[in-house]
Amino acid sequence: MGTSANPASGRQPQSPGLGDRFYQWLDRRTGIDGLLREALDEPIPGGAKYAYVFGSALLFVFLSQVITGVFLAMYYVPSADHAHTTVAYITKVVTGGSFIRSIHVYGADAMMILLVLHMSQVFFYGAYKKRRELLWMSGGVLMLLIIGMAFTGYLLPWSEQSYFATSVGTSLIGEVPWIGSYLKEIILGGGDMGTLTVSRFFVLHVFILPAAIFGFIAVHIYLFRTAGAAGPAWGNPETIRAKTENFYPRQVIKDIVFVTLVIMVMGLLAYFKPADLGPAANPANTTYLPRPDWYFRPFFEWLKFWKGGDEFIGEMIVPAVGILIFFLVPFIDRNPERAPRRRPNAMTLLMVGLCAILGLGWYSYHQDAVDPSVAKELHLQSEEDVRFMAAPFHVEMIGNIPGKVAPVNKTVAAGEKIFNNQGCSTCHGQGGVGTAIAPKLIGIVKKLGGASKVGYLIDHENAAMKAGGMPQFHLAPNQMKQLLAYLSSLK
Ligand code: HEC
Repeated sequence: MGTSANPASGRQPQSPGLGDRFYQWLDRRTGIDGLLREALDEPIPGGAKYAYVFGSALLFVFLSQVITGVFLAMYYVPSADHAHTTVAYITKVVTGGSFIRSIHVYGADAMMILLVLHMSQVFFYGAYKKRRELLWMSGGVLMLLIIGMAFTGYLLPWSEQSYFATSVGTSLIGEVPWIGSYLKEIILGGGDMGTLTVSRFFVLHVFILPAAIFGFIAVHIYLFRTAGAAGPAWGNPETIRAKTENFYPRQVIKDIVFVTLVIMVMGLLAYFKPADLGPAANPANTTYLPRPDWYFRPFFEWLKFWKGGDEFIGEMIVPAVGILIFFLVPFIDRNPERAPRRRPNAMTLLMVGLCAILGLGWYSYHQDAVDPSVAKELHLQSEEDVRFMAAPFHVEMIGNIPGKVAPVNKTVAAGEKIFNNQGCSTCHGQGGVGTAIAPKLIGIVKKLGGASKVGYLIDHENAAMKAGGMPQFHLAPNQMKQLLAYLSSLK
């Protein structure tokens, strides 16, 4: 920040340059000098350290999420009919859209990693002790809100993946005792996941949770400033006092160095490995294997251990007790000792906790890899994602809004209706892009050498179709003509 001017330095009043004069002008009207001092002159016992950068990085990535989120919201339409189309449009058509979306997706990943690092550092340093109970608890609320952001954001693209993974999560909400079914209905906007669900998740993801996060960030920082930086957990108090320095400049520089590193990693990932998007959700698909994002994998795996009668214990009681204990940590652990070496129980808990999370996550991926039928199905699903990503964006535009409008040609439009109503799209995918069950039909007329040949196949079926479960479709000549017109339009 450009704070080179210092009105209190007692310089001659006639000598200050334009910059200094402007700063004084501004300061008299806003008190900015005092504000900056308040913000930057926070003493850090023992001096600046890289161990303290994670909180600032979380704040930075959150702001980045807000900015990229605003850009995504400019195109995104929260309805079951349009959500996927508009995300596909962002990913495939909008200039820089895929990059912005990828930064948003990787930003969510980064927040999860930074959250674990920040909490581990605070726990390791015993920085929740000595009048910092509320600071720790406000951090706990932020953690839950961020998890809520990840959960609600995941559904918004309305892809197969996001739809089915989210329905695993929402079915859990229904298990909450007494109020579960009401809660689920409120969150879903009805009995099933549909347009109201997208719209409610959107409202949570874009208005309610971010507003709460902003509020709790303010509380968290206020409580942090009130308690003061905790400083090192070990060492000679005299040396620590001697090495104490202000937040600005050295800690600010360390924060900036680390944040720059985070930006670089996110930017490189977004550029070289853009976030992908699978085909649109098909609620009728009963065989889809849902898999949540990696950060929910440990919990996803944990749930599998509790099938049967004691499901409720694993799904509700243990997580609820876990969260309660998490919040009460500063009250349970009243020992003022902060040095990790002299807190064997706390360190064991931290290690066991981290290992359990990593272990469960690893085990979840391992399970998927060793079961051949699961591995095959997941492979097919990810191939579908790749195929969908590779297919050109073919939805037509209403004005400059991408929308699923009927093709201009009436015969083709009627054909598309038949294609969807007859269930062709269930196997061959929306717009005939192909699925794990049946091949893509884009360019099929050319491939088979004419519409009449395709018509013959649909009417009679061949061995491969029979094997794949495609029935014979005996359509009226007029309908067949319309269907073939539609198939011919898929290029
Ligand atoms: C139950 C799933 C299913 C449904 C429903 C279905 N198909 Fe198929 N379709 C298949 C399978 C499986 C194949 C054969 C795949 C192969 O050749 O290996 C196939 C093959 C085809 C082919 C030949 C593709 C090629 O590359 O040779 C056409 C054309 C076709 N289907 C059109 C349709 C149309 C039009 C409809 C709706 C009237 C429809 N299908 C409904 C599963 C289905």
